[in-house]
Amino acid sequence: MALDFKINGKNESIEVDPETPLLWVLRDHLGHTGTKFGCGIGQCGACTIHLDGQAARSCQISAADAAGVPITTIEGLSPDNSHPLQKAWIEMNVPQCGYCQAGMLMAAAALLQNTPKPTDEDINTFVDNICRCGTYTRVRAAIHKVAA
Ligand code: FES
Repeated sequence: MALDFKINGKNESIEVDPETPLLWVLRDHLGHTGTKFGCGIGQCGACTIHLDGQAARSCQISAADAAGVPITTIEGLSPDNSHPLQKAWIEMNVPQCGYCQAGMLMAAAALLQNTPKPTDEDINTFVDNICRCGTYTRVRAAIHKVAA
């Protein structure tokens, strides 16, 4: 079945089973590999994207539900990696292995859209992505730097 997607401001149409998770559509069908697979069950947040401007875990969304809805991936957060959060992430050496950080950044960007001056508690609640390297302290510091 042909489905139309709006990803990072571009229209992309593919033949895909409507029940395919959006994460697979992004990575395997359309080559947006910045969005990562971690758990596949909605727990880790590695696959976080923005769906209609809100953070969403793409492994839990079907292709049919995502079709036609504006989607932003890490590749579209800023065309030249100049989003304030990306700059803060680099300045503060937030990533360690880096695998989960695209999802972290997408969750953090959505948080700041909704809550421009988040507390640590806000961050812990909203950006509940899992990082096996334990970068949480630097994630919080970088978000506060941008929010200041
Ligand atoms: Fe989607 Fe872990 S891969 S939440």
